[in-house]
Amino acid sequence: MTNCLPTVRSVADLRAQVRVWRQDGLRVGFVPTMGALHRGHLSLVETALTQADRVIASVFVNPSQFGPNEDFSAYPRQETADAGLLGGAGAHLLFAPTVPEMYPPGFATTVTVTGISSGLCGDIRPGHFAGVATVVTKLLLQALPDVAVFGEKDYQQLQVIRRLVRDLDIPVEVIGAPTVREPDGLALSSRNAYLSPEQRAIAPAIYRVLTGLAERLRGSGAAAAPLLAAGAEDLLRAGFASVDYLELRDAEDLAPLAQADRPARLLVAARLGKARLIDNLGV
Ligand code: PAF
Repeated sequence: MTNCLPTVRSVADLRAQVRVWRQDGLRVGFVPTMGALHRGHLSLVETALTQADRVIASVFVNPSQFGPNEDFSAYPRQETADAGLLGGAGAHLLFAPTVPEMYPPGFATTVTVTGISSGLCGDIRPGHFAGVATVVTKLLLQALPDVAVFGEKDYQQLQVIRRLVRDLDIPVEVIGAPTVREPDGLALSSRNAYLSPEQRAIAPAIYRVLTGLAERLRGSGAAAAPLLAAGAEDLLRAGFASVDYLELRDAEDLAPLAQADRPARLLVAARLGKARLIDNLGV
């Protein structure tokens, strides 16, 4: 695929381009990614194009959001293919900074969003959301877009970002875009590439369990705990090796809920071979 998408690697060049667009009265949208793009990412670009005249996508595999035993070095890097996909989806600029551009020698600041970063993935991946919050704060301040689009697939991340944008008065509208799924319900994820064909056949159980639980919880006043325990059992029976969590949470602040008596979200993380799959569904 030809890489015809203009690419900048420095914050200075990014800002110079955004300045020109602003002088022309154009609205700027931003889609931060870590690359290894799939249709889910491209749908974020499509959403941004409905809200903005010019769309920047970033590709930066952010070391600070990976734990010491996580897949930072193995994380797929395919910038040329990603640039082609982004250009095809209608993005106008790729920002692909180097690690030293983002974290120069002496870098010493961390953005921590308390409360909402704890529990769920925050407990299983210590430091992960501080890494996300720090890099997203930097990216938003570097690009200063009018709107930024993030996927609902990473729902806790989305709520962490909404919180930090409000708390730090960053002048950007955050838009959450719906999860894109395979026909059998599996949420698209760069980490689905880690699944063997046998594991890929098991993986859609995660969405079946979520939709079944949502139907039983929605408007029923039913106690969540026994249903969630049964849902986790179903995942193990389907072939998942373990379930990190399967929980019902308040849709906005992610406080634990005993029943779906307000806008709620089911969130799950479960392990299948080398992959740790996460998913979520509104109730
Ligand atoms: O969701 C992602 O791809 C990353 O966590 C993000 C938001 C680009 C920050 O590195």
